[in-house]
Amino acid sequence: MNPAEEKLKQCEKSLRQRIDFVPQAALVLGSGLGGYAEKLRVVQTLDYSQIEGFPVSTVSGHKGRFLFGYAGEVPVVCMQGRVHYYEGYPMSDVVLPIRLMGKMGAKVLLLTNAAGGIKEGMHAGDLMMITGQIASFVPSPLIGANIGELGERFPDMSQIYDKKLQEIIRQAAQNRQLPLWEGTYLQMSGPQYETPQEVQMCRLLGADAVGMSTACEAVAAHHMGMRVAGISCISNLAAGISSQPLSHAEVQQAADRSAQKFGALVDDFLREIGERMEVLCR
Ligand code: HPA
Repeated sequence: MNPAEEKLKQCEKSLRQRIDFVPQAALVLGSGLGGYAEKLRVVQTLDYSQIEGFPVSTVSGHKGRFLFGYAGEVPVVCMQGRVHYYEGYPMSDVVLPIRLMGKMGAKVLLLTNAAGGIKEGMHAGDLMMITGQIASFVPSPLIGANIGELGERFPDMSQIYDKKLQEIIRQAAQNRQLPLWEGTYLQMSGPQYETPQEVQMCRLLGADAVGMSTACEAVAAHHMGMRVAGISCISNLAAGISSQPLSHAEVQQAADRSAQKFGALVDDFLREIGERMEVLCR
């Protein structure tokens, strides 16, 4: 068994000793967006540190725990805090939590993050639904022996972000009259923010927002057949697009300011998933 597979099995065993919850949907809450958890009817929590072998985040503002609960009637596992590649973990560790949630039973994954806005007209505090991604600036989480139990060696990536889920998010935003950008997310390794020149490059490549997470997780989730959706909170304009220097504190404050509309959108999405689960499981 390859080491990534072994570690996944170990974490799964350790988690199942404590939790018997079966989620339908999985949610990853990005920087500053952890407050959504208050909307969930939480029945159990588990600190990442209690799971043997599980990667634990070192970034301030990132809580490290799983919440198990319900959005309406829909059983949801939620990550409050994630680990990032820039923390020094191998990619297989970075995506281990996603695989674990998939193995617990989650069929649908909603990834969220704070990101720098590139697309013309964006403002800090805006929301963007991710419709496509560029993951080529970070190593693939699928490098190494393929975990055949999860998926195939050369998985197709022509439609990572599920069209039906996109429609649900679009509809939810419309119903609430929330403006919602749609676009391509590009993952950089970080931890430094981009230079204005790198942001120009991202723009030339077709990116609408840039961040340091998500794309690798989406690849791993799509590899194992989960349906994936993503929402970026545009916490700042990417370097050079605004003249202001970037700071982590600013990113978190902007995410906090959009917390309410973000929370409403996520909640509507999860509840709607419950209504459509039969269709989505097909
Ligand atoms: N760049 C990269 N990652 C980010 C940014 C950014 O401007 N804002 C929040 N996360």
